[in-house]
Amino acid sequence: MGLWFRKRATPAARSDESLPIIRLQGVSKTFKGESDEDTVALDDVTVDINRGEYVSVSGPSGCGKSTFLSVLALLETPSKGVYWLNGRRTDQLTHAERARVRSLDVGLIFQSFNLIADMSVYENVEYPLTLRGKSAQERAERVHAALERVGMTSRAKQRPGQLSGGHQQLVAIARHDHPMLRNIHRDRHAALARERLQPVDHLAQQ
Ligand SMILES: Nc1ncnc2c1ncn2[C@@H]1O[C@H](COP(=O)(O)OP(=O)(O)O)[C@@H](O)[C@H]1O
Ligand SMILES: [Mg+2]
Repeated sequence: MGLWFRKRATPAARSDESLPIIRLQGVSKTFKGESDEDTVALDDVTVDINRGEYVSVSGPSGCGKSTFLSVLALLETPSKGVYWLNGRRTDQLTHAERARVRSLDVGLIFQSFNLIADMSVYENVEYPLTLRGKSAQERAERVHAALERVGMTSRAKQRPGQLSGGHQQLVAIARHDHPMLRNIHRDRHAALARERLQPVDHLAQQ
């Protein structure tokens, strides 16, 4: 799973610009068992991630990687500890602010891509822009540009089920098109041209 964050266009109140883009201090996440024991998925995690840093998280199955990413993406809240994103304590965000951050500041590319089977490639890429209230013209421009960047323009009308896994992955990337990822696309195409390989899957590995 890849993820990225971007600076807020207008820093909200109480944002400390001197902090790294991500700071976790003593973050734990415990899942309460109903009859069985509780599961400690994250145990006292303290980490700083700076703007522009590229970080991979690895470890055996069940060690807490997905939980870690879910906390970073505000899909889960820590049981203990504090998480600052873009210089703001995330436990002080309102419900609406959390939703906004999830929609605008965090992008997740899932291992399973989560493309919507009933939508075309074009509609899948357009969907998050619709949710963000972009105008029809801006949506069209951005979808065309994003598909162009990943080399999927000719597939725009196809459904995800008609595509190879590698192509589905490129659509998933286009759906979360972002300047930082554009470098990854470029590197990836460079690697492909050089080695004439099928798309590699490392981008979406969890
Ligand atoms: N929603 C949940 N409810 C209960 N336990 C969970 C939940 N999500 C994850 N866990 C448990 O937390 C631990 C870490 O899981 P996870 O973060 O998915 O690990 P990884 O992604 O490294 O394989 C596992 O023991 C898993 O069973
Ligand atoms: Mg996982």
